[in-house]
Amino acid sequence: MIADWLDIGWLDQIPVRGSRTVPVAGGEEIAVFRTGDNQVFALVNRCPHKGGPLSQGIVHGHSVACPLHNWNIALATGSAQGEDKGCTPVVPVKVVSGRVLICRASALQAAA
Ligand code: FES
Repeated sequence: MIADWLDIGWLDQIPVRGSRTVPVAGGEEIAVFRTGDNQVFALVNRCPHKGGPLSQGIVHGHSVACPLHNWNIALATGSAQGEDKGCTPVVPVKVVSGRVLICRASALQAAA
């Protein structure tokens, strides 16, 4: 089966230790993060605690601190860290020739 990848733009357009968001059907957003070591991760832009916008959080290492109550969410798994429990859906992402691609099917599924 051929994976269906959605091109969302240049890696350079995502700030280091920052993110950008991609709207998907259903009013949901995908947050695409770029870490300090130039890795890219994509999660549904919704904290597993109370739905905070993870894209507005602070990226440190391979985690993001939610801007609302400071839960730390692992970018690779979407899991809350430490004592906190919960998980945000992860969307497969890759970089090809400087372009960022996210898995279209996963993004749509996340929005359902
Ligand atoms: S909504 Fe994210 S920590 Fe509370």
